[in-house]
Amino acid sequence: METSEIIALVSGANRGIGLAIAAGLARHKGVHVLLGCRQLDRGKAASAPLQAEGLRVTPVQLDTTDEASVSALAALIEQEYGRLDSLVNNAGIGLDYHPTLSVIERMQQTLDVNVVGTLRLTEAMAPLLAKSTRPRIVNVSSELSSFGMRADPNWAYSEIKLPTYAASKAAVNSLTVSYADQLKDKGFKVNAVCPGYTATEATNFSGTRTPEQAAVIAIHFALLDDEGPSGIFVSEAQQLPW
Ligand SMILES: NC(=O)c1ccc[n+]([C@@H]2O[C@H](COP(=O)([O-])OP(=O)(O)OC[C@H]3O[C@@H](n4cnc5c(N)ncnc54)[C@H](OP(=O)(O)O)[C@@H]3O)[C@@H](O)[C@H]2O)c1
Repeated sequence: METSEIIALVSGANRGIGLAIAAGLARHKGVHVLLGCRQLDRGKAASAPLQAEGLRVTPVQLDTTDEASVSALAALIEQEYGRLDSLVNNAGIGLDYHPTLSVIERMQQTLDVNVVGTLRLTEAMAPLLAKSTRPRIVNVSSELSSFGMRADPNWAYSEIKLPTYAASKAAVNSLTVSYADQLKDKGFKVNAVCPGYTATEATNFSGTRTPEQAAVIAIHFALLDDEGPSGIFVSEAQQLPW
């Protein structure tokens, strides 16, 4: 490892917005990206074209719902790199349209990935981030969770009803505020971003933005300079109300 290299970890990086965030980060000079993927084979397949471009990307096994997977990855990062500079909590699911699960099951499974998984990965990586001179955490949220936006009758997405998904991302937003406060004395910047409505498997490719467009805001906050904000919620267009 080069000492000046930035080590970044992106969860859910084998496809969709996570893959675009990983690729976009790796295109920044001096950034080495670890692609956290539940299925390592899919991570290797996603990494191959990026590696062929000469980008510094390494697929790593990561299931954020699995304590053993998360702690094994923390041990690997400690051993190989000695620290982590940027963590992008991108892995996420939405089950509101699931055809067979009850609403209780949708809520429980969604919380397990989006909230507990984000918490588990953040807790495991915080000691490694604390060894960085510029620790950054980006939580990929959604404006669908914003109480402020939802209260506006003219909001563009007021007809979209995703109650369990929205509740889970509201909890992610709350964790963002808590971690920004808890970690501020160690120089961390912890922010939540909304990538916008994006064409990925999660939206049946109906989103209006490309994964590359969606990735821009997360990449910016993963590489945020020391003057940048902490504890805010933003989209590419604007700061969002919680
Ligand atoms: N698409 C949008 O319009 C939109 C808008 C706002 C926010 N977001 C958020 O953006 C993030 C990425 O969404 P996307 O649209 O790119 O979704 P996607 O294409 O469905 O990709 C989700 C990624 O998360 C991974 N994942 C799921 N459960 C995981 C777990 N337990 N551990 C580790 N990885 C896990 C998936 O891995 P597998 O391939 O193994 O399933 C996949 O790599 C999510 O947090 C989503 O809520 C999306």
